[in-house]
Amino acid sequence: MNILYDETGRLFKIDTQHTSYVLGIVDEEGFPGHAYYGPILEDIDVAYCMRIAEPPFVPSQNNRDRGCFLDTFPTEFPGNGVGDYRESAIEIADGNGNRAVQLFYKSHRIYPGKPKKEGLPATFGTDAECMTLEIVTQDPVLDLEVILFYSVFADTDAIARSVRVVNRGKESIQLEKIMSASLDMDNDNYKMLTLHGSWARERQMEWRSIGHGRQSVGSVRGESSHQEHPFLAVASENCTQTAGDVWGFHFVYSGNFLAQVERNQFDSLRISMGIHPGGFSYELKPGDVFEAPEVIMVYSAEGLGAMSRAYHDLYRNHLIRSPYKDRKRPILINNWEATYFDFDTDKLLAIAAEAKKAGIEMLVMDDGWFGHRNDDNSSLGDWQVNEEKLSGGLKYLVDQVNAIGLKFGIWFEPEMVSPDSDLYRQHPDWAIAVPNRVPCRLRNQYVLDLSRPEVVDYVYECVASVLRSANIEYVKWDMNRQLTDVGSGYLDNKHQGELMHRYVLGVYALQERLITEFPNLLLENCSGGGARFDPGMLYYSPQIWCSDDTDAVERLGIQEGTALLYPLSTIGAHVSDCPNHTVGRVTPFETRGHVALAGTFGYELDITRIPQEDRDMIPGQVELYHKYNDLIRRGDYYRIASYRDNHFYDCYEVVAKDRSEALLFYIQVMNRPNYHSRIIKVPGLDDTRRYRVEGEERTYAGSTLRNAGLVIPNMWGDFQSKLIHIVATDL
Ligand code: GLA
Repeated sequence: MNILYDETGRLFKIDTQHTSYVLGIVDEEGFPGHAYYGPILEDIDVAYCMRIAEPPFVPSQNNRDRGCFLDTFPTEFPGNGVGDYRESAIEIADGNGNRAVQLFYKSHRIYPGKPKKEGLPATFGTDAECMTLEIVTQDPVLDLEVILFYSVFADTDAIARSVRVVNRGKESIQLEKIMSASLDMDNDNYKMLTLHGSWARERQMEWRSIGHGRQSVGSVRGESSHQEHPFLAVASENCTQTAGDVWGFHFVYSGNFLAQVERNQFDSLRISMGIHPGGFSYELKPGDVFEAPEVIMVYSAEGLGAMSRAYHDLYRNHLIRSPYKDRKRPILINNWEATYFDFDTDKLLAIAAEAKKAGIEMLVMDDGWFGHRNDDNSSLGDWQVNEEKLSGGLKYLVDQVNAIGLKFGIWFEPEMVSPDSDLYRQHPDWAIAVPNRVPCRLRNQYVLDLSRPEVVDYVYECVASVLRSANIEYVKWDMNRQLTDVGSGYLDNKHQGELMHRYVLGVYALQERLITEFPNLLLENCSGGGARFDPGMLYYSPQIWCSDDTDAVERLGIQEGTALLYPLSTIGAHVSDCPNHTVGRVTPFETRGHVALAGTFGYELDITRIPQEDRDMIPGQVELYHKYNDLIRRGDYYRIASYRDNHFYDCYEVVAKDRSEALLFYIQVMNRPNYHSRIIKVPGLDDTRRYRVEGEERTYAGSTLRNAGLVIPNMWGDFQSKLIHIVATDL
C-alpha cells in the first residue's frame, strides 16, 4: 500500500498491492478529476486519461463552453446544477432555496492509519495496516467544505472511500443529497452485477447490460433490505469467477441507499453510491458536520473470485470487531422452527437435554417469551418475561439450561412496538407515524422512533436489563418490518427529512452500547431473515441470519450471493426439519448439514421429535463442524460451479491460507440419468505440493488438481452432497 502525491502534476496515486487509483487536480481553479482505477501502475502521470487537452475541454479562462467541459470531465466528486448533467454527488439547498454546488481543491493530507467515523460503522486498522488520503474541497460561494477520504490497507486490495461535509458558512443549509462515492470511467461494453431478492430469496445474483441513461438499485425501506443489496459491480463482458475485470462497490450502511451506473452520451460511465436521496434532507447549521458512510471499492483483474476474497479478508480483518470473529461459535439450536410461539420451560428444557446429548452447545429461545405474545399480534415493546409460559422465570430457565451443560441465547426485536402492548398504550407517540394518518401496519406492528433519545434509552434498558438478569451469552437482534409513514413526533417540520438516517444512527448507537456493556456477548443480527445483512451490521455483530429460508437447495443460491461479498464465518446457517417449512421440499439430513457447515452452523428443529435416523446423524455433523470450522472461518473461498447456471450441481471450496488443506463442497441438486461422473477442477492449492484426498490412497500435485481435477461419481437421487477434504502430504 502507498499513497503518493506528485506536486508538479498535482496527481494523487493510491496503491493497494495489486491496484492503483489516480486522481488529479486540474486547471487553476482546481477541479478534482478522476484519471484511473485498475491494475497497479508504475507511473503516476496518467493525467492524460482525463483528456483535458481535447475538446470539449475548455480552460476556465475561456468561459464560452464551460458547460461542455463540466458535462464530460471525469469529475472526482460531482457538484450539482452548474453544467454537469450527470448524477450529482451532492446537492445543497441554501437559504434562498438554490441548489448549486461546485467543489474545488483546497488542500490535502496523507497520513498513516484511518480516522474513526463517529456514530457510523467503518473499516479500521492500525497505522501500520492502513493509510489515508484526505482531500479538502470547497465551494467558495456556499462556504462549504467537502472532505474526501480514501484509505488503503496493506493486506487487501480494497479502498475505503467516504465523505465529510462541513458547513463553514454563516447560514444554515439543507444537505439534500450526499453520495459517498462517485467514479467516472470509460465504458468498454461492461455489464453490471447486482443482488436482488425478497423474503426467503435474498441476494440472488443478477447481470444486466449497461444501457445509456441511469440504471440503479436502491432501498427506501429504512433498511438495506431483502429486495436489493447495497452493492454493485461493473465488469468486463467476459468476466467469470477466475478472469476478467471487475470493479465492486459495497456500502457500509444499513439504511436507504442508491447504487447506480449512468452511461452518458460519450459512453463513459458514472458509478454513484450513497444514502438514497429520496426523502433525505439534513440541516447543517453553521459549523455542523455530516459524516457520510463508507463505500468499499475493490478492483480485481482476476474475475469475481478475487473480488470476493478481497471483501472477505477486509471484513474479517478490518470491519468485524467482535471477540468471536476468529473463534468457533457455539453450535446452537434455535426453537423458532421447532415450536414457533408454542413453548414453555419444560419444552425448552427437553430440547436442551436432547441437544446436549447430541453435542449441541447452546439453546436459543426465539420469539414469544415476553408480554402475552402467543402469536405475532402483540407485546413487542413489553420485554418482560411471560411467566405463564416460562414458569419459574427467565433466570430459572437459563440456570437449568446451563445445568444441562448448554449456553443460553435469546431473541429480541428491540426496534418495534405492537399496537397491542403496554408500551404503545403509554407512548403512542413513540411510534413512527405521520400526523393525521393511520400508520400502515406490517406484521401487525409499528417501528419505534429511534431519532428520539428517550426511546433509544428505553429500548436499551429493556434489552440490557434482561441480559443483566441471567447468564445470557447470545442475542439474536431481529427487525421484522420496513419503515413506512415516515414521520417523527420528536423532530420539527424542518427535520423530518432526517428521520430515516437518524433511525439508522439510533440502531448503531443501541448496538454500540450493547457490545460495550456486554463485550463477550455473541450478537447475531437478523431482519425477517436476511434483510439487514450488510457491512454496517457486521461492525456490531460477527454473524447475521442469512435467510428465513432454511431449505438446503434454496440456501445454495442465497449463500452463493451472500458469499460473493461476505466471509462464510458471517453467514447464519442452520439445519432444519423436513418437509421444509418454507418450500415443502424434502432433502437428505446429510445435505442439510453440509450446506449449513458453509456458514455459522446450528440447528433449527425440534430435536425431540425429528426422525431417529436424523437425530443419530447430529453427533457426526457436530464432529464435522469441529473438524472443519477453523478452515471454513479463516480460509479463502472459491466458487466453482453454480446450480443456478447449470441446473444440476453446485460446488464451492475453502482453501487454507497456507494452502495446506482444502474442503470441497459438492451438491448434486438434480440427478441426471445416463450421464458421466463429473470432473471438478480444484483451484487455490499450491501447484507444486502434493495432496491426498481423505479416504484415498493416491496423491496429486496441486497443479494436477487445478488442471486435471477430481472425479466426482454420480450419486443416487436428487439433493445429494459430498464433502471432499484435501490435505497436503508434507504436513
Ligand atoms: C424473523 C426471523 C426468524 C424468527 C422470527 C420470529 O422472521 O428471521 O428467524 O426469529 O422473526 O418472529
